[in-house]
Amino acid sequence: MRVAQVREFGGPEVLVAVEVPDPVAGTGEVVVEVDHIDTLFVQTQIRAGNFGQYFDVTPPYVPSGGVSGKVTAAGPGADPAWLGRRVAVSGRADSYAEFLAVPADHLSPVPDGVGAREAAALVHDGVTALALLDTTALKPGESVLITGASGGMGTLLVQFARALGARVVGVARGPEKTALVRELGADHVIDAADPEWGQRARAVLGDGGAALVLDGVGGQLGLTAFSLTADGGRFSAHGAPTGTGFAAADPDEARRRDVTLLGIRDVQLTPQRRTELLGRVLADAAAGRLRPVIGEVFPLERAAEAHAAIEGRGLVGKVLLKP
Ligand SMILES: NC(=O)c1ccc[n+]([C@@H]2O[C@H](COP(=O)([O-])OP(=O)(O)OC[C@H]3O[C@@H](n4cnc5c(N)ncnc54)[C@H](OP(=O)(O)O)[C@@H]3O)[C@@H](O)[C@H]2O)c1
Repeated sequence: MRVAQVREFGGPEVLVAVEVPDPVAGTGEVVVEVDHIDTLFVQTQIRAGNFGQYFDVTPPYVPSGGVSGKVTAAGPGADPAWLGRRVAVSGRADSYAEFLAVPADHLSPVPDGVGAREAAALVHDGVTALALLDTTALKPGESVLITGASGGMGTLLVQFARALGARVVGVARGPEKTALVRELGADHVIDAADPEWGQRARAVLGDGGAALVLDGVGGQLGLTAFSLTADGGRFSAHGAPTGTGFAAADPDEARRRDVTLLGIRDVQLTPQRRTELLGRVLADAAAGRLRPVIGEVFPLERAAEAHAAIEGRGLVGKVLLKP
């Protein structure tokens, strides 16, 4: 089968298609013929070699992401009833591939009414978005500020928060992305390209600030977002696409203002919890309550172009791969 492999750390061009043996289902495993693969910003950072301290990855390796697909084989001890079913698999390593062997208990059935593309776009971002809202305990009527609101996870956070009855203020960059976030239901959208965006957000949030801030961007933008957190509120720093780290909120200031600091460590999930949350996400999509935004689908052989597109930040919506 074909996989897209990172030959060595570097630019997108180090991601090349190679032939490897087909996987075989071990005990309790099934083989999934992959239909679509989701891509995550963090995979571009790992590929560039910047995240060695956090991820134990040595080239050559096949990047990871969630997938949608169909079960084509069941190993000993795996329920043969899975055969032929449409499934999604969350948080799987080595998934830029045509086939994957996965434990059967990590599968989520894809309900009728949810396409393979949509399932792949939801498989990772939707799970983390739900986990974040569970962990930060967003309540109806609270105001929530979401940075990176036009991103894969941001677009889902906006929809979930809106459905919960929160007052949503999204931060996204440029006219096309701010329009999308508005269309997804945000009550207010602030353009991050405006150097005064923090003041503009303050004007719509009021002097009290946001009860909850969900920061998927980090760096300086994340620090400004921290300053917009209400006293007694919650601040989650779970994103670092700027390459300058998670928002380094000052713990002394947080204590003084009684702000609870949360981060990526608070959304580390067991495979069982991922599978449970994915079931909820797919059910919401099937019921028409959640709409993943898909920007472009690249053939697996062109994974390098997909990574270049993600890093270029020009596309609106999720980038997927298709074997
Ligand atoms: N998806 C998940 O399941 C998951 C899980 C854990 C953590 N996270 C983290 O959460 C963050 C957001 O995830 P995502 O899946 O929504 O990613 P994404 O789809 O790639 O979106 C990234 C967002 O960050 C903004 N951004 C990218 N580079 C930036 C830069 N240099 N400066 C300022 N803004 C920048 C982008 O907006 P513009 O480019 O338009 O400015 C976009 O809104 C990422 O850091 C990711 O690692 C995600």
